[in-house]
Amino acid sequence: MKMNLSNIKKAKKLLCNRECIAIPTETVYGLAGNAYSDRACEKIYKLKKRPKNNPLIVHYFNILRLKKDCHINNDFIKLYKKFCPGPITFILDLKKSSKISKIITNKKSTLAVRFPQHSITRKLLKILEFPLAAPSANPSSRVSAVTSTDVKEDFGKKIKYVLEGGKSSIGIESTIVDLRKKPQILRLGGLNISNIQKILRKKISINNKSLKISSPGQFKVHYSPGLPIRLNAKKIYKGEAYLLIRKKKVNKSNYFFLSKKGNLKEAAKNLYTLLRKIKKKGFNSIAVCKIPHRGYGKTINDRLLRASRYNEKTT
Ligand code: TXA
Ligand code: MG
Repeated sequence: MKMNLSNIKKAKKLLCNRECIAIPTETVYGLAGNAYSDRACEKIYKLKKRPKNNPLIVHYFNILRLKKDCHINNDFIKLYKKFCPGPITFILDLKKSSKISKIITNKKSTLAVRFPQHSITRKLLKILEFPLAAPSANPSSRVSAVTSTDVKEDFGKKIKYVLEGGKSSIGIESTIVDLRKKPQILRLGGLNISNIQKILRKKISINNKSLKISSPGQFKVHYSPGLPIRLNAKKIYKGEAYLLIRKKKVNKSNYFFLSKKGNLKEAAKNLYTLLRKIKKKGFNSIAVCKIPHRGYGKTINDRLLRASRYNEKTT
């Protein structure tokens, strides 16, 4: 993606005015605002219709800037050196002197932090004097956005500006790891756990229930395209779209392929785009084939399971 400096300058100007804009990252697009400004952070919650007790991830340019706001430890340094910038988010303890808006943390003493790799957003972070709070740029509980068009379709004129960055290269959110005590994975994502375990030289438990932090059940439905989803489907019913892991010779208009040859990384990258496409084409539900439960397949299954809870919704 070519770097357009005037776009970055425009983004900077709006952010300095405490506006909220969309930014590209290698995982998904983010809805960004000045993380030191209550006003900017309030705008993010409002635009996304996000429950106030669900905290935001804060994006930093580098470790030096992060140190102003958070305590770091050895596990963090090892993972930072190996994977950052990249698709990993860390939960750390906030410093008392931190300027992070209380709107973000909702009185908690921890902060989720990330160092995105996307070159345009890195350039932007470098020239800003504050870090960026940025949850995924989609209405709460819906599918994340992986292109500027996705963001514009979701928010229309409500969003002041979308910084163009092409299609997100990973296409699925970052892996979240809580490093405050014994490391724990809170969300599967764009970096496989085996890579993290190799660097820390220990087995890490997965505790993705704790993402329901403040009120259990509240964040159950997530990543939903706004359609019922049926998992592990061996056949399909009338009106359903069929989402398959690898291309089949029989090519029907209701068949959608996550990957050519069943590559799970490629499938993760295509997942949100296909969910959005199926919704747009007017199908009334989605049947998904069994996805191998290994590597990126685990992340895909996590997202599909949460998206499939749309069925349980009564409204
Ligand atoms: O790849 C990503 O992580 C993208 C891009 C834009 O950076 N961001 C993203 O943000 O996925 P969001 O807000 O959609 O998901 C962040 C998750 C939420 O489920 C939130 O509850 C959790 O991180 N989270 C935020 N702060 C936390 C904290 N202090 N402790 C535990 N979980 C936290
Ligand atoms: Mg999200």
